[in-house]
Amino acid sequence: MNVLGIETSCDETSVAVVRDGVEILSNLIASQVDIHALTGGVVPEVAARKHVERLGVLIEEALHQANLRYSDIDLIAVTNRPGLVGALMVGVSAGKALAYALGKPIVAVHHLEGHIASNFLTAPDLQFPFICLIVSGGHTDLHIVEGHGRRRRLGSTRDDAAGEAFDKAARLLGLGYPGGPAIDRTAKGGNPQAVSFPRAWLEEGSYDFSFSGLKTALLRYVQQTGDALNVADAAASFQEAIVDVLAGKTLHAAEQYEVPRIAVCGGVAANSRLKEVLSEETGRRGYQLVVPPLILCTDNAAMIAAAGYYQYVTSGATDIDFDTIASEALAG
Ligand code: KG4
Ligand code: ZN
Repeated sequence: MNVLGIETSCDETSVAVVRDGVEILSNLIASQVDIHALTGGVVPEVAARKHVERLGVLIEEALHQANLRYSDIDLIAVTNRPGLVGALMVGVSAGKALAYALGKPIVAVHHLEGHIASNFLTAPDLQFPFICLIVSGGHTDLHIVEGHGRRRRLGSTRDDAAGEAFDKAARLLGLGYPGGPAIDRTAKGGNPQAVSFPRAWLEEGSYDFSFSGLKTALLRYVQQTGDALNVADAAASFQEAIVDVLAGKTLHAAEQYEVPRIAVCGGVAANSRLKEVLSEETGRRGYQLVVPPLILCTDNAAMIAAAGYYQYVTSGATDIDFDTIASEALAG
């Protein structure tokens, strides 16, 4: 089954063709990062306009690279939630138009279901259940995934998402946008033990996260140190505080629920220190660890096509009159 995936929920325009949920035939991503770097963050209206300019060309090119014609597509999968509504609407309108014109079914995909599916593209043999840490610019969720579309949420962030915390910290440290990769790079030259930032473990046994206190602690530290600020040390220590909590709670969940498989997805899964710590700790415990390659960690349409395939197989197509939705937690 050839699935055409479309992703326009934020600032990446992406189109992919994935066969049977596992084989990527094409996965094209047109990033708007240069444009949004000028404003230090995504301007929703600008993002939507860029999607309009680029989406048509990307659809043609994704088919070309997959060596397929429109008539070879069996299913359209498009992100309809959550995200910037204007941006989502571009992808959803294009997806619906294609489905209608080609007479093919369409599925409306939750963006985070896409991030989870990036693990199946990375490790098609991944067994259920597994513990899944979803860490992106908008979300920080910990789930036990029990089957395709079946999961139990153990916890989520009570304030900032991990990626958002990285982005805000980078801005405070004058490292620019996007913040996560900038902190990751800068931290390599710093001492993670230089500053002891707080770790919000919350109540005993809680799998929720909180990063706003850490952000405030960094702000206070930057103000106090003034010209003496060592940016690399501050970045490394800040990153270590986030990674400690993300890795600590994920490993604890695997232990408590006796699930020896951990998957990490979303933009922050690209963080080199998070990968390093989880790889060491899962290695020590004999757990399987799946972290998608960079191209599948950040927003891309291959993960949406894969999630759409499993959704179609388990629950069928979506009625074509579905809406775009700005905010919706992943059920579970
Ligand atoms: O999943 P994603 O591409 O978009 C959303 O759905 O939000 O995630 C983007 C987030 C941004 O906050 C970005 O700063 C963060 O992922 N990110 C990273 C790294 N690469 C991207 N955070 C930490 N370390 C990285 N290497
Ligand atoms: Zn995302």
